[in-house]
Amino acid sequence: VRFINLNYQPVAWLGDRVRLLDQTRLPHEEVYLELTDYRDVASAIKELKVRGAPAIAIAGAYAVALGTRHVQAPSPSAFLEKLNGIISYVAATRPTARNLFAALERLKTVAAGDNSPDAITKSLAAEAIKIHREESAATARISRYGAGLIKAGWTVLTHCDTGPLAAPDYGTALGVIFKACQQGKNIEVLATETRPLLQGARLTMWELQKAGVPGTLIIDSAAGYFMKTGKVDCVITGSDRIAANGDTANKIGTYTLAVLARENNIPFYIAAPASTIDMSLKSGAQIPIEERDPSEVTGIQGVSLAPEGIAAANPAFDVTPHQYITAIVTDKGIVQKPYTTGLKALFREVPAQ
Ligand code: MRU
Repeated sequence: VRFINLNYQPVAWLGDRVRLLDQTRLPHEEVYLELTDYRDVASAIKELKVRGAPAIAIAGAYAVALGTRHVQAPSPSAFLEKLNGIISYVAATRPTARNLFAALERLKTVAAGDNSPDAITKSLAAEAIKIHREESAATARISRYGAGLIKAGWTVLTHCDTGPLAAPDYGTALGVIFKACQQGKNIEVLATETRPLLQGARLTMWELQKAGVPGTLIIDSAAGYFMKTGKVDCVITGSDRIAANGDTANKIGTYTLAVLARENNIPFYIAAPASTIDMSLKSGAQIPIEERDPSEVTGIQGVSLAPEGIAAANPAFDVTPHQYITAIVTDKGIVQKPYTTGLKALFREVPAQ
């Protein structure tokens, strides 16, 4: 069994401030930010200093806990109004990852259950810590379930970054890969660079290197070449939101990979916690897709690449129709087709004994 060192944390709650590992500075600099204003945490989410669906949810929950500590209000109702303002502010950061909204809904429910501002402030911090713990625990289970799908000697292609940076403690898709390696399965990883913001090149390669797992970086458009020439045994990615029918939103380019995998008879897996599943949406057509600034496409890290004044489009996510997905690995088990019944079963209440 291999020892894999995953002891870095993208988000930490320090009681009166939030610590973030600034992912925009990786891989060359490991800079930690300590933020005391919830608006700065919200900006960090928007700017992808913290990113990945579970990490966004954790940071968003701590942002609300932080903001609530500073609310001055003459009455409990004025306090609640300000708290709702903070929650809306955090919700307006990025629209696609379901985990953020699931976390904010939990905080709203907790706030409704207490009556004094002091009690609410305490219980919101406690709930944010609980969300953090649960998201972390989910990654351990996803990794364990998913590793069973990966065979010794395989080359696994992944997209974007889904390691502990995106989903503490183990990651989702990358967690599955790490777990398979820990089981002694000698896995090789092909990582797509993931334009425009290069999460694959900058972050996945950093995480693989830290873990000592062999990885090769390829450009996004080389994925078809590697699949067609027999160099890929399976594809596994994370997800930002899964609709009730299994349609899955993930980083732009994921759909392309799923279609290529089908064309080449390669299994295509999704790994995500149950908090990513949005049972209120019938299909992927209803998933809100974030549009980001065109400057991320016309340049890279501040260096302009295209002629001034041209048009560029920058959807940050796409939706992979469920029929392209071989299985969805969750913390509650592996879901197979038909997804509509399989996903519903995950949320069925366990009857009392
Ligand atoms: O824009 P990002 O970097 O937040 O996008 C992240 C992804 O697309 C991940 O695949 C997804 O959030 C799952 S993270 C475990």
